[in-house]
Amino acid sequence: MENKKVSLITGGSSGIGLAIAEALTANDNKVISISRSTDKIERALTEKPHLKGKTDFITGDVSSEESITQLRDYIEKNYGVLHGLINSAGIISVGNLQSLSSGDWQRMLDVNLTGPFLMTKILLPLLKKANGASVINISSIAGLRPGTSIGYSVSKAGLDMLTRFLVADLGPYNIRVNSINPGLVKTHLHFDNDIFTNQEDYDKMLEGARVRHPLKKVGEPEDIANMVKFLVSDEASWISGAIVPVAGGITEENSFLKPKEDAMLK
Ligand SMILES: NC(=O)c1ccc[n+]([C@@H]2O[C@H](COP(=O)([O-])OP(=O)(O)OC[C@H]3O[C@@H](n4cnc5c(N)ncnc54)[C@H](OP(=O)(O)O)[C@@H]3O)[C@@H](O)[C@H]2O)c1
Repeated sequence: MENKKVSLITGGSSGIGLAIAEALTANDNKVISISRSTDKIERALTEKPHLKGKTDFITGDVSSEESITQLRDYIEKNYGVLHGLINSAGIISVGNLQSLSSGDWQRMLDVNLTGPFLMTKILLPLLKKANGASVINISSIAGLRPGTSIGYSVSKAGLDMLTRFLVADLGPYNIRVNSINPGLVKTHLHFDNDIFTNQEDYDKMLEGARVRHPLKKVGEPEDIANMVKFLVSDEASWISGAIVPVAGGITEENSFLKPKEDAMLK
């Protein structure tokens, strides 16, 4: 245990969080994950059986202070320190002001924004002990500009401000805080949150998104995990307060450049 870094990933049982768990265990981190459903943990272990025994999959809810306190006690007892906190758990319900219910609005704020606030607050004593800890918030490009859900975009914009606020707050403890803002990444998110229910519609959406990305590719969970691997490492020891789009260039999508002109550039 001596030389291993200890990292906690919220939502490590699926998609981006699971790819991060894989990347960090391969990088000799001890990894702990917190998520709610045992079905998703089983699915994760079917997708990545080599993580069995290498990642502690704990059940709990990031919006519950009680769950997080139990988790803190578990980490304190078993590892005594926390070097990396990666807030990846997230949910989405699509809708604008008129169509999104107040319940869905509140759920997104609770999980996507209050979750990372509570996680950082309650785990702070263990992060301080690392003397060089890294907190990474998995935000979204939807936090940088309006997307398909008013509640999701507002929660992610709030998360980016949480990142920025914590830079000065936690810097004196040598704790770095950064956001990663993914573009569209192929995960279970859209099916598990009932945004898509059939594969054909999902594939059509992916293709529409793919051509809009300047790099003509939608993301894979590993694209995000690679950036996390860097930001938790000592090589990033002077980076705090970065809001980093990992998004195939979509943040600079240029709708003024028409396909015809695009073709002329080839
Ligand atoms: N996929 C994309 O296109 C995309 C783009 C930009 C940003 N992101 C962000 O990336 C992060 C990961 O998304 P993903 O695509 O990997 O989604 P995903 O495959 O649906 O995974 C989400 C994970 O979060 C967990 N989770 C949800 N609510 C939770 C809660 N209250 N407490 C604890 N765990 C909870 C889920 O497990 P349980 O449901 O079992 O709890 C699951 O492990 C999210 O923050 C998302 O907003 C995704």
